[in-house]
Amino acid sequence: MQYGDTRPDSLPHNPFKAIVTPRPIGWIGTLDPGGLANLAPYSFFNAIGSDPDMVMFSSEGAKHSATYARERGEFTFSLATAALAEQMNTSSAPEPSGVNEFELAGLEQGTPSVIQTPFVAASPAAFECVTLDVRQLSDRHGTLLDRFMVIGEVVQTHIRDDYITDGRFDTVRARPIARMGYADYATVTEAWQMGRPKR
Ligand SMILES: Cc1cc2nc3c(=O)[nH]c(=O)nc-3n(C[C@H](O)[C@H](O)[C@H](O)COP(=O)(O)O)c2cc1C
Repeated sequence: MQYGDTRPDSLPHNPFKAIVTPRPIGWIGTLDPGGLANLAPYSFFNAIGSDPDMVMFSSEGAKHSATYARERGEFTFSLATAALAEQMNTSSAPEPSGVNEFELAGLEQGTPSVIQTPFVAASPAAFECVTLDVRQLSDRHGTLLDRFMVIGEVVQTHIRDDYITDGRFDTVRARPIARMGYADYATVTEAWQMGRPKR
């Protein structure tokens, strides 16, 4: 099977997100213009560089997170884990402005040290980020799309002490969850090693 812009009838749902998988979930904290906290998950999310550490998330529509990250110039990332899956999902509810999804999901707000925006205190790891760029995406014809990619630089990293083992962040212990296609998720439950080739 192959297809271009038009998908065959045998694929009623676009498998794109089931193919580009597992996608890490950026659990994004922002502050609205009045200083109220906002929280939502984004699986169009990834690390895009290190030293300085940089991340991006992409909003399908001008949603609160992208709008506030642009207006305030900052956002936080919190690691979504199996233990926090329900709260993560609750925070994705399409709430109007004025609703604090930390409260909605029963999550304590972690206190940032460099920026103003809180993160998920219960998460094993979180980043404070300064917004570097918000790019409105366009397609191959140059048509502007209702898609906004937010790029941020990590300015402060929070790791809960019990997730550091022998000087390393214990990813498997944290049990990060990742988004696949449809309603599917994956959980990191094991790690294996492979060294890079040397010249
Ligand atoms: C696991 C998960 C991943 C999501 N990823 C995205 C995403 O990458 N982009 C997007 O626009 N919406 C995504 N959503 C939907 C948003 O979380 C949802 O629209 C939310 O209400 C946006 O909140 P905000 O307006 O406060 O930013 C995702 C939802 C879930 C549950």
